[in-house]
Amino acid sequence: MKRVDDFRLKLGSQELVPIMVGGMGVDISTADLALEAARLGGVGHISDAMLPTVSDRRYNTKYVKNKLQQYKFNVANTDKSVVQFDLGLIAEATATHVSRTMERKQGSGQIFINCMEKLTMNSPKETLRARLRAAMDNGIDGITLAAGLHLGSFALIEDHPRFHDVRLGIIVSSLRALQLFLKKSARTGRQPDFVVVEGPLAGGHLGFGLDWAQYDLATIVVEVRDWLKAQQLDIPLIPAGGIFTGTDAVNFLEMGAAAVQVATRFTVAKECGLPETVQQHYFKASEEEIEVNQISPTGYPMRMLKSSPAIGSGIRPNCEAYGYLLDSSGNCQYIEAYNREVAAHPEAKKIKVFEKTCLCTHMRNFDCWTCGHYTYRLKDTSVREDNGDYRILTAEHIFRDYQFSTDNKIALPA
Ligand SMILES: Cc1cc2nc3c(=O)[nH]c(=O)nc-3n(C[C@H](O)[C@H](O)[C@H](O)COP(=O)(O)O)c2cc1C
Repeated sequence: MKRVDDFRLKLGSQELVPIMVGGMGVDISTADLALEAARLGGVGHISDAMLPTVSDRRYNTKYVKNKLQQYKFNVANTDKSVVQFDLGLIAEATATHVSRTMERKQGSGQIFINCMEKLTMNSPKETLRARLRAAMDNGIDGITLAAGLHLGSFALIEDHPRFHDVRLGIIVSSLRALQLFLKKSARTGRQPDFVVVEGPLAGGHLGFGLDWAQYDLATIVVEVRDWLKAQQLDIPLIPAGGIFTGTDAVNFLEMGAAAVQVATRFTVAKECGLPETVQQHYFKASEEEIEVNQISPTGYPMRMLKSSPAIGSGIRPNCEAYGYLLDSSGNCQYIEAYNREVAAHPEAKKIKVFEKTCLCTHMRNFDCWTCGHYTYRLKDTSVREDNGDYRILTAEHIFRDYQFSTDNKIALPA
């Protein structure tokens, strides 16, 4: 009987344990979590979502306070087009997070950064360019392009000295999306080094509609695998979404996958950024308590616990401080939903907004409890203490369980 450890992910001359811990914004996949995956010989991801905010919390900078100060005059204005990010400061925050992470790296694995196109930041192209280049300047091993088609992303970095040295990959949820990406990127004379195929059971935003249950990861993986083969394209394929046990992973590796990307199992790791009280909600969730909804202002469906404080919260949009989801004209779907509710209840002191959520604020505060479909199985991965809470696991325990387990078994903590 095979184990994940019988396989290796080959990226260039490197041989890695074929386990990638996926990016989880905002600082849910922390540097500590990514560093553990790398130390154990796999690939860990930090996330580049809202790095000025993350930097304030971790490295005592004052980006959010200063930005709010600068744009305070606009707080009551519904037009947010004036609220622009300073590109130099974005690069600085990215540089700090990436360099501080990379200087702590140990072991033979790799640290990648998850970079979401949907973080449009009121100036999509320029802010994405600043983030990507700053990560490359500061020694990141690889970049996983996420949450978007990224048709122009390679072009933003093709003149960077590390363009052929940094491992570059993309997350897609269909063959069609991959074909579009490859066609556009071919102009830069470079193929991706890996492709993550993310199915409908993943956490975070989904590349599927509300009919997500009609799709199946294995079917999409076979379709992409066969097409790549027919095109004689030798690009490592990495399935993600609902791979819960080592045996699930082995099944994909035997189908020809080069590695697997996993995340939900690590949401209950000590090194994960979620506060422990939130981790207990993840442990205790039942299947009925997990939903895919449309409250994300990005327009993508998102999976989360129904008990997330973000759902229904009617806080005033916080774009002067954050503003990561403002589109190129300074709009965000939450601002529109919020304004409709305010207009409908002019006397109300506090309003509820169910249509959309202020995702920047709630992700930053760990109040949007996004999770994978199998979150309800996390309780089977730990032991319950006398007080009714589940024991928080180490990332090493979870990683090694994926690496060495067989027969769909999950090792409980000692
Ligand atoms: C809490 C959480 C947050 C996530 N955030 C992101 C993100 O910011 N960007 C991204 O590309 N994927 C995100 N994902 C998706 C994961 O990186 C990964 O591909 C997927 O969840 C794997 O499926 P699994 O959770 O069933 O193992 C997130 C997943 C979870 C569970």
